Amino acid sequence: DYTKKVDELKSKIKSFPDFPKEGILFWDIFSALSDGHTCKLLQSLLVETIRNKYPDVEAVVGLESRGFLFSFSVAAELGIACLPIRKKGKLPGEVLSYKYDLEYGSDILEIQKDSIRPGLKCLIIDDLIATGGSIAAAAKLLRTCKANVIGTLVIIELTGLNGRRNIPEAIHVHSLITYD
Ligand code: PRP
Ligand code: MG
Repeated sequence: DYTKKVDELKSKIKSFPDFPKEGILFWDIFSALSDGHTCKLLQSLLVETIRNKYPDVEAVVGLESRGFLFSFSVAAELGIACLPIRKKGKLPGEVLSYKYDLEYGSDILEIQKDSIRPGLKCLIIDDLIATGGSIAAAAKLLRTCKANVIGTLVIIELTGLNGRRNIPEAIHVHSLITYD
């Protein structure tokens, strides 16, 4: 039943060659959301996965911007906190930052300090793992806040890029769908 639902979801996700630049195959999660039945299917898969794999989670942490869609939808259903990690300069109040390297240059992620208490059991949510850089940086930011990162949940994992290699080993990674 679970596998059948995952297969159905997978059949709804379209890919676009050479987007946003030549040589990149872009997996577009929004293509699955243009149909209400698939929205419901995806939501039930995410919630079921969290109930099974991460039953103790206290907060889901969504990564800007596509991660926000799914962090809020599952938080609302499970009745747990939904916390954002955003690019520098977007969150008001006191923030904690983490700077990380990209292929060219670097970027800074931020989280609101008041939203985290030591030991808070957090699950990082995003639509996709490519190089793993975003998830790794988010996990490191949460660790500097002394949060307890219990894992990561993504819809799509591009296994050919071996993003898991960049994510701290102690952090459990669960993906619904993989592509080579
Ligand atoms: C995409 C995707 C993930 C990230 C994965 O986000 O939504 O967040 O890249 O890549 P990585 O594993 O190599 O870090 P993007 O930066 O395109 O921004 P968006 O979510 O705002 O569209
Ligand atoms: Mg993103």
